Amino acid sequence: MDRSLGKPSNPCILVIFGIAGDLTKRLLFPAICNLGTSHLLNENFCIVGVSQEAFNTDTFRQQLIEDVNSFITDPSVKQYAMTLINRVYYISGSFDDAHTYKNLKNKLEELAANNSSKNLLFYFASPPQFIETIASQLSHASLLHESKDSFKRIIIEKPFGHDLTSAKKLNKLLLGYVKEKQIFRIDHYLGKETVQNLLAFRFSNGLFEPVWNRFYVDNIQISVAEVLGVELRGSYYERAGALRDMVTNHLLQMLSLIAMEPPSSFSAKNVRAEKSKVLSVVQKLNPDFAVRGQYGPGKIDGIAVPGYRFEKNVAADSPIETYVALKLFLNNWRWLHVPFYLRTGKRLALRQTEIIVQFKTGPSTLFSESSKKVMPNILRIFIQPDEGISLSFNAKIPGPTMQLDQVEMKFKYSDYFGIKPQTGYETILYECMNGDHLLFNDADMVENEWALVQPLLDTWAAVKPENFPNYAAGSWGPKEADDLLKKDGHKWQL
Ligand code: BG6
Repeated sequence: MDRSLGKPSNPCILVIFGIAGDLTKRLLFPAICNLGTSHLLNENFCIVGVSQEAFNTDTFRQQLIEDVNSFITDPSVKQYAMTLINRVYYISGSFDDAHTYKNLKNKLEELAANNSSKNLLFYFASPPQFIETIASQLSHASLLHESKDSFKRIIIEKPFGHDLTSAKKLNKLLLGYVKEKQIFRIDHYLGKETVQNLLAFRFSNGLFEPVWNRFYVDNIQISVAEVLGVELRGSYYERAGALRDMVTNHLLQMLSLIAMEPPSSFSAKNVRAEKSKVLSVVQKLNPDFAVRGQYGPGKIDGIAVPGYRFEKNVAADSPIETYVALKLFLNNWRWLHVPFYLRTGKRLALRQTEIIVQFKTGPSTLFSESSKKVMPNILRIFIQPDEGISLSFNAKIPGPTMQLDQVEMKFKYSDYFGIKPQTGYETILYECMNGDHLLFNDADMVENEWALVQPLLDTWAAVKPENFPNYAAGSWGPKEADDLLKKDGHKWQL
């Protein structure tokens, strides 16, 4: 999606609950400033932040200036940020105190009277346990009621719930306060250009779709490798773990896009329906096809880093997994018997997110003389950080004999389009301001995600891991994850 061709968003006030947290300074505010610099924000756009920390608008603006200096590097974006800061307002208060919402309402009315919009976007960047309280307080303060000339939308960060039961409960609860069309459930991977490009790549290129099935594809691998550890998010992560934090959302979203059937249009309804179908045909997860791991001490870029159990707010005997590898199968006509391997981990050797489609190898009878074997064609979709796509194939090495080698054709976003894709939050916020649900999950999708991982969550909760930590920081994860593929005659291609 080329937002550089887009129009400024609809006017609105963005209300961020938990504005003093990490998400705003690292991702949300920089993304908003990227949008503003690209002329994609309405000129009346402004932000009202609500947090428990004891700032006032002036002191919070001072803090924001420091954050901008730390997290925004592009000079033009920085310049935009400095002007936008004057349109950021802060309300200090507890999320469960009705006074907070009274103050918020007064501020919103004052802003609306001064030409700002009556359209309101409530962003829940607060810890998940506050969602229920904030939604009910907003409703009691009559802040969620839409009228003909104004919208009221809520944006919910992941994780949406903690398991299947709580996700269902949360969906039900929210639908008691707002209509489904007012809810935007975020998975920021869906905002990434490279993830959106999966639809363009698959459904606009006649070359690949005919071979995108069990007759030609040998296996598909989705890897999200992170170098970072849990940083300061220990208390959140101790309740989550990699299965909840990454697999139940980002990895399953990529799986659904790579495996879905062509939708009849790019409407949010049709695309979401096809993606949901993929998750509903995943065979029940077999715990024998799942590997969990936790990082111990190790080295990243030659520097010693602590193991997970030594991170802040993490228990010294924590059973929480920081690594997951899974093999799963889809019970449908297109994909029956094709293994999908998914893995993600923190403190791995490299930051790299890739989808790999390995095709079946052609007959090699003609090339028995070659010292190298005929290799399978591999399509690599580089999601980040070096965004692009490559296709590897066999080629004859120049010379008098028929010797083969594997070569690669590569497309890089930065070479071709001259820009590097952004974080994903830009698109997510822009689409939300404009009311398009294509890049957001509906209730069914999040429930399908949880339903899929629930058996494994239960198994892992019941049996404590005996061997944690089982991989060193800076490595490629536990050996068992390699064995998982070795048994099938495969290996991780990343
Ligand atoms: C978040 C997870 O959703 O995604 C984090 O909570 C993870 O633990 C992050 O680090 C990864 O996002 P990205 O865009 O850096 O791949």
